[in-house]
Amino acid sequence: MRILGIETSCDETAASVVEDGRRMLSNVVASQISVHAKFGGVVPELASRQHIQNIIPVISKALSDAGLSLNDIDGLAVTLCPGLIGSLLIGISVAKSLAYTRNLPIVGLDHVEGHIYANFLEHEELTPPFVSLVVSGGHTNLIYVAEKRKYEKLGQTLDDAAGEAYDKVAKLLNLGYPGGPIIDKMSKEGNPEAISFPRPMLNDPSLNFSFSGLKTSVLNYVMKQKEAGNPINPVNIAASFQAAVVDVLVEKTLKAAELKNVKVITLAGGVAANSQLRKRFTQRCQELGYSLYYPSIILCTDNAAMIAALGYELLSKGDCKLSLDMDVNKKGFAKEI
Ligand code: KG4
Ligand code: ZN
Repeated sequence: MRILGIETSCDETAASVVEDGRRMLSNVVASQISVHAKFGGVVPELASRQHIQNIIPVISKALSDAGLSLNDIDGLAVTLCPGLIGSLLIGISVAKSLAYTRNLPIVGLDHVEGHIYANFLEHEELTPPFVSLVVSGGHTNLIYVAEKRKYEKLGQTLDDAAGEAYDKVAKLLNLGYPGGPIIDKMSKEGNPEAISFPRPMLNDPSLNFSFSGLKTSVLNYVMKQKEAGNPINPVNIAASFQAAVVDVLVEKTLKAAELKNVKVITLAGGVAANSQLRKRFTQRCQELGYSLYYPSIILCTDNAAMIAALGYELLSKGDCKLSLDMDVNKKGFAKEI
């Protein structure tokens, strides 16, 4: 069964054809980074306009890269929530039009659940139960995956997502956008112990996160150094900020695994591309005898292959959950145990 996935929830216009939930026949992502970079973050109205320009060429390329035409597609999967409403609407409208004109089954999906499925797509041996850390520009969630499509949300950020903190810190240091990959790279040259930034919520009994105070600590540090006439060392700030983020993400996730009595952890979302996060998780999981899974970098950041893989899970069972009058759903991640 070949599913065409469509993803437009934020600033990537993406389409992908996945066969039987496993074989990625194509994976096209049109990034809008150059459009948003000068603003230091995603501008929703510009994102919508870019999606309108890109969506048809991206879908056409996903089909041609797969060596297929629409006649070879058995179903459609599209991100329904959460995300920027204007952006989501474009993907959903196009997907619904295709479903209507080609008489294809269509399913609307949760983007965060899609991120979790990036691991199922790449790691055939992965089976629940496990704890998944979904960490990106829009989300920081700890989710217990009891079985496929059965979830319990264990914790989430109370304010900024981890990726958002990366992007905001990069903006205040004038490093560029998106901040995550830039800070990741710079950190390799810096000393992670140079500045002692707080580890927010690390010792809080809950499994929630908070990154907005950490971002403010970086800002305060920079301002104090400037006031005192001291030079700023961006690589040390980057490395020390990243060390704080990684500490919190790793230790809270391990705590969640302990609580749920599982020895399997998966990482997903754009921040799961972070080299230090992967390294620290690998070390800690080895120490504890846990199995660790994370997707290749192209499937960490937003993509439509993860949406197509999740779509297969539903459509192969005849579970078709998007009527043509259905609208975007702002809330997202509603599917819990
Ligand atoms: O999953 P994603 O593409 O979009 C959302 O669903 O939000 O994640 C984008 C986020 C951005 O905040 C970006 O800075 C961050 O992921 N990111 C990284 C890295 N690559 C992307 N953060 C840390 N290290 C990276 N290597
Ligand atoms: Zn995402």
